[in-house]
Amino acid sequence: VRLVVLVSGSGTNLQALLDAVAADPEGLGARVVAVGADRSGIVGLERAERAGLPTFVCRVKDYGSRDAWDRALAEATAAYEPDIVVSAGFMKIVGKEFLARFGGRYINTHPALLPSFPGAHGVRDALAYGAKVTGCTVHFVDEGVDTGPVIAQSVVEVLDGDDEAALHERIKQVERTLLVEVVGRLARNGYRIEGRKVVSRDC
Ligand code: GRF
Repeated sequence: VRLVVLVSGSGTNLQALLDAVAADPEGLGARVVAVGADRSGIVGLERAERAGLPTFVCRVKDYGSRDAWDRALAEATAAYEPDIVVSAGFMKIVGKEFLARFGGRYINTHPALLPSFPGAHGVRDALAYGAKVTGCTVHFVDEGVDTGPVIAQSVVEVLDGDDEAALHERIKQVERTLLVEVVGRLARNGYRIEGRKVVSRDC
């Protein structure tokens, strides 16, 4: 199974996927074939280059409209013929064209327990709310912001002394494991979808 991974930042979730493939190339049943980003000069792209992978960058400001950017991102992604596209800290909402091509096989990882605390500041918002538990969610992407069917979640306790950075770091530790697990299961066709509900099959 071919994966294209989209990143905007440090790419530790991408690294977890790369490490899982390196540790057991057959085991995961999937491999990263390219990495895309919405900005250049990020550590996520360096990680891809270090792994010898092709990369591409689509910056919104290089296109006349959001739709044109979306089309360009969809085309650049499609060039690598992915079976699954992973948004791993990719901080952009894709548009119609991208979803038309990759909907149902485009997944995102979010650092909160959806439907609580969607959006760009899931960790900060959970802390500000005073939540005692939070976590991460891997979900299919639909046209909303973090609203697609939930595939899997992990819980992380909020500690009294937590600031955003400390809590986010603990979330990211479980997030990486969860993402690798979900990608492996998706690669083995290990989910079926009943309406909004994603159910794992034994495989
Ligand atoms: C993750 O927590 C992701 O859910 C969030 O940003 C973080 C990305 O981390 N949107 P990294 O770039 O994979 O290290």
